[in-house]
Amino acid sequence: MANPDQPAAVADGKTILRALAGEVLEVPPVWMMRQAGRYLPEYRATRAQAGDFLSLCYNPELAAEVTLQPIRRYGFDAAILFADILLLPQALGVDLWFVTGEGPRLSTITDAAGVSALKPVEAIDETLSPVYETVRILSRELPAETTLIGFAGAPWTVATYMIAGRGTRDQAPAHAMMREAPEAFDALMERITDGTIHYLSRQIEAGAEVVKIFDSWAGSLKGEAFQRYSLEPARRIIAALKARHPETPVIAFPREAGDGYIGFARATGADCVALDNSVSADWAAQHVQVDGCVQGNLAPGHMVTGGEALVTETRRIVQAFSKGPHIFNLGHGITPDADPDNVQRMIDAIRG
Ligand code: CP3
Repeated sequence: MANPDQPAAVADGKTILRALAGEVLEVPPVWMMRQAGRYLPEYRATRAQAGDFLSLCYNPELAAEVTLQPIRRYGFDAAILFADILLLPQALGVDLWFVTGEGPRLSTITDAAGVSALKPVEAIDETLSPVYETVRILSRELPAETTLIGFAGAPWTVATYMIAGRGTRDQAPAHAMMREAPEAFDALMERITDGTIHYLSRQIEAGAEVVKIFDSWAGSLKGEAFQRYSLEPARRIIAALKARHPETPVIAFPREAGDGYIGFARATGADCVALDNSVSADWAAQHVQVDGCVQGNLAPGHMVTGGEALVTETRRIVQAFSKGPHIFNLGHGITPDADPDNVQRMIDAIRG
């Protein structure tokens, strides 16, 4: 819903919202997955101040600070809330911790008893209320032209971590549970789906102007399983959000979906599909952008290697998507070894 206190010119002027509404802009708006992250010295300093990663996620002042850092440095068109997709499982009662240099660890869920032991969806706000406070701080403090994006993990991706207790290369434990304990698996997907609807609604009520659903492991779902466990949960979440918050655009990211990107926006009701860098921009312009806004899809490795290839590839992607609505982004998150100067080179190549 338009904010009556905000002049229409400002609301109408936000480039990300214009692209999401289908407008073709001369210069595509730009932001970056993991733009608040370890490649930035100011992020590392604030994270050290917070103590560890989860303490940073649950400290609204410091989480807002790291969200704002890349906006100050680069003037991105959007800020993404600083949090993590694994906070929702934690709020549902799962143990969560991060091992430095390795990644997340969680207590595992492998059967119906494990699913039944999860907390009800209404209980998640007890844990997640600091995240909503971060959103409120950001909606006050962000520059008027910057769009605030909230997010959650998609049910399949979140389930893969809850079942395996960690990140996995091929998501084998989740595929095994799907096969061997299908009812418990479906019950888990259901609980995460309901939790995600609640969590994203609260973010929107706190001031998120767009929400994004990260299905980072969608690529390991094939055929019927992709329809059932990536597309269908996204459709359900988006339908529920649109019923409550019809004006809030949704970006869906079924990473490495390949041909599954075709028609995904139409089938789920998403306003934009985010593309990973395994698909070519020319192919995606022809087959995916026909349905509306797309986001992507520069390979994150260019932020490490830089040089002429970074500039050439950035311009090629801008050109490939220039006939339809487009938000420039990487195909996945920027990595800790990236050079902050390469981010500026990318932005200059887009805007210059
Ligand atoms: O800037 C942003 O993009 C916003 C914040 C954000 C983080 N995680 C912060 C983070 C977002 C949107 C995420 C999403 C997320 N988290 C996903 C989906 C996107 C993707 O990358 O595919 C997933 C799968 C996770 C789970 C997760 N969180 C993993 C696997 C890891 C460890 C890997 C790593 O990069 O170290 C995290 C940690 C994490 N989340 C960091 C950040 C900045 C690094 C933690 C640190 O500071 O040490």
